[in-house]
Amino acid sequence: MPEVLNRLHKEHADLTRLLDLLDRQLALFTAGKPADYDMIGAILQYCLEYPDAVHHPKEDLIYGVLRRRDPVLAAEVGDLEEEHRDLAELTRTLAELIERALAEEPVGRDQVRDLTRDFIRRYRYHIAREELHVFPAARQVLSDRDWAEIDGRLGDRDDPLFGEVVADYFHALRDDIDSLAALAKGD
Ligand SMILES: [Fe+2]
Ligand SMILES: [Fe+2]
Repeated sequence: MPEVLNRLHKEHADLTRLLDLLDRQLALFTAGKPADYDMIGAILQYCLEYPDAVHHPKEDLIYGVLRRRDPVLAAEVGDLEEEHRDLAELTRTLAELIERALAEEPVGRDQVRDLTRDFIRRYRYHIAREELHVFPAARQVLSDRDWAEIDGRLGDRDDPLFGEVVADYFHALRDDIDSLAALAKGD
């Protein structure tokens, strides 16, 4: 498998862990219990800093080549760039809402819950479509030379949460992720 697809696949697994954490927060909301706004805010901040700034542009590069090589197939798998723009907008809207809640401004609990639910659903759906349709289409159509060109155009920007060096702001979130993983393994 091309190296960039390995990387994107790993990032999908990482993102899924964050969506699992958000699901737990959503369950608290639904049960009428207090949610961890700091954690939700950190997850959204990460999505703005890495998936929206690095992960999605990598996919847009692949999609751009796919569209040039096979416009019909590209149209069949959907408009990836538009989905990325919509996801980024939803992320910014929800992040602003959480920021206001953290600043103790009046924020509707139902609005936070509904937007969080929408965010989780759309992100999961987006990842599934990429894994099931977009990446297989790209593998079918792109040549070794295409993949090598894409690899050459990608900058090496470190992941501030799942990379080797965790940024200060994300330390608490990293601990939450590790705790959830330990729980899942039954440690
Ligand atoms: Fe994407
Ligand atoms: Fe993706």
